[in-house]
Amino acid sequence: MIKALRGMKDTISPMSQKYNYFIKNTTDIVKKYGFEFIETPILEETALFKRSVGESSDIVGKEMYQFTDKGGNNVCLRPEGTAGVVRSFVEHKLDKTQGQKYRFFYHGAMFRYERPQKGRLRQFHQFGVESFGEESAYEDVSIIQMIKEILDFFEINYTLKLNSLGCKDCMPSYRDDLKSKLSLIDGLCEDCQRRKDTNPIRVFDCKNQNCQELIKDLPRIKDSLCESCKSDFETLTSMLESLDIKYEIDSNLVRGLDYYNKTAFEFVSGDLGAQNAVAGGGRYDRLVEFLDGKTTPAIGFAIGIERLLDMIETPQTTREGYYFGAMDEEAINELFKQATQFRKEKKVNISYEKKSLKAHLKGADKANARYCAIIGENELKDKKLWIKDLELKEEKLIDFFVQ
Ligand code: HAM
Repeated sequence: MIKALRGMKDTISPMSQKYNYFIKNTTDIVKKYGFEFIETPILEETALFKRSVGESSDIVGKEMYQFTDKGGNNVCLRPEGTAGVVRSFVEHKLDKTQGQKYRFFYHGAMFRYERPQKGRLRQFHQFGVESFGEESAYEDVSIIQMIKEILDFFEINYTLKLNSLGCKDCMPSYRDDLKSKLSLIDGLCEDCQRRKDTNPIRVFDCKNQNCQELIKDLPRIKDSLCESCKSDFETLTSMLESLDIKYEIDSNLVRGLDYYNKTAFEFVSGDLGAQNAVAGGGRYDRLVEFLDGKTTPAIGFAIGIERLLDMIETPQTTREGYYFGAMDEEAINELFKQATQFRKEKKVNISYEKKSLKAHLKGADKANARYCAIIGENELKDKKLWIKDLELKEEKLIDFFVQ
């Protein structure tokens, strides 16, 4: 038997019901904040992710589904959604439209060749948003407020972790200082040895206890912020306080992707296992220019859909639409005609097999239909449909819709 690949899952009922319920309600929320749907290809040039997510990240270093296509192009299944949206933003010259703001949302499959475990898949789904052209820290507040609204809607328990990663003015000198301090430390793990040269702040993200011990007294970027970063962070935190959105400042929060600056955040939930981040994001004011566009401030986030769905119940669905069944072989033709008419306006399930009334009622129940419509020998003769309302338990005969 051929099975799905390791770390890849089918989305079938009842998970598919949860999935649709999540997409519908989350879409409604992000639209209120002015976000519009965007869809970008799942396959992109590998160079896109190398340049955006960054060579120092685990994603680019170890986890990409990368291959050469039949035309000899080096391509990659997207490991995340931001890079493709930024590529599209630049390719469509939206960076050249002066002063305009663009807000996009997307959802779909992402691929990372990680070691599968609870909450960690190789093909998973994200719901993400990307906002372009807004420099104000109020946009950061608005994005965080929106995630809170989504998580509250689905009754998810979470903690919001916040940090500021500085900008092109304050980050480089901090990074150089950190690099020289790290070069004096012996015993860092192999990954941290590599990070030390490529993107030293990533050492704070290391899961190795020994590394954490060795770096615990090193200065954090939060204490070296320039005036502009400091004031934006203050605007953000004071607005969150006035909106009663609780947060924790986590100076070790550096995010696993290289494109971030200033605000970085993660929503973690104690109801998940070791993989406890349900959503993450932040500002990436320089990524548009790294991808050859005109410098454009930007911020976004993505929710891990499987992680969120693991924490919610299957929505209670009410009975809906019709189930059509025939009790006589002769009636099936007529049944199909009548059902086709109903389907113009209603949801209709048709059974093509002659069955007893009891069996059809059972079928209607399984299909979660509100009405069971039956044609038997007598109904066919009288040109009538027998209909039972399965909620009110009422029965009636109606004339055929079409003669
Ligand atoms: P990320 O933190 O890498 O950020 O992923 C966002 C979310 O995707 C995570 O918080 C987690 O819930 C989920 N996720 C990540 N990896 C896996 C996995 N292997 N299995 C299951 N779920 C997973 C990004 O991807 C950024 N593009 C977010 C962003 C948008 N930043 C700015 N704009």
